[in-house]
Amino acid sequence: MKINLKKATTLLMTALMSLTLAACGAGDSKTTAKQGKDGENSSKSKILVAYFSRADENYGVGVIEKGNTRILAEMIAEKTGADLFEIKPVKAYPKEYTPATQVAKVEKEQNARPEIEGPLPDMSKYDTVFIGYPIWWSDLPMPVYTFIDKENFVGKTVIPFCTHEGSGIGSTERFIADTTKAKTLEGLEMRGTTAQNSPEEAKAEVLKWLKKLGY
Ligand SMILES: Cc1cc2nc3c(=O)[nH]c(=O)nc-3n(C[C@H](O)[C@H](O)[C@H](O)COP(=O)(O)O)c2cc1C
Repeated sequence: MKINLKKATTLLMTALMSLTLAACGAGDSKTTAKQGKDGENSSKSKILVAYFSRADENYGVGVIEKGNTRILAEMIAEKTGADLFEIKPVKAYPKEYTPATQVAKVEKEQNARPEIEGPLPDMSKYDTVFIGYPIWWSDLPMPVYTFIDKENFVGKTVIPFCTHEGSGIGSTERFIADTTKAKTLEGLEMRGTTAQNSPEEAKAEVLKWLKKLGY
């Protein structure tokens, strides 16, 4: 049988390239979120974005219709195809900024668990949960504690994100990792004023972070 040398060389090259690409793919998947076999995040991976966010009068942004954290939550859901869930206290916070800070301060001092509106999401449907919140008194708002207490995150991947006006994500990231006992990926922190007033800049930052996580 006559061997076509050119054809054999092409076949060998193709096989070598496939092996190299497969090896690269395997390395990447260790550092990013769960990936499907095509290298993109698997469409079978069910994602939830659960967030708390307060509209009305807020620090540095005046009276707003949509909370700063909610803006980021919607960007994340749009990019990842996630379901959105708003953590909503049964009793709303005051619409004015200073009275709201006072109520929040008392709740923190009392380590309160304000009641939140249900029904809560069925966690068995999700393998990845983004948890979003504003920083309140250098901490999570207490309704987020209520949410975390009520849900079971064991075996899931949890990814925190927050808006703030100077404190940054601080110890909340560590707290979420310890309390949920979930695998926790690197969180995002962003100024609320950036989320509210510079949507293009905010979106670029969110997409950059999501890309780093593998989305
Ligand atoms: C009750 C309350 C407490 C806050 N405490 C802090 C704080 O300790 N550190 C900080 O950087 N920002 C603090 N802020 C500012 C918020 O974190 C910031 O405005 C955030 O973007 C609000 O997000 P939201 O619109 O999604 O609720 C506080 C705001 C409120 C209403």
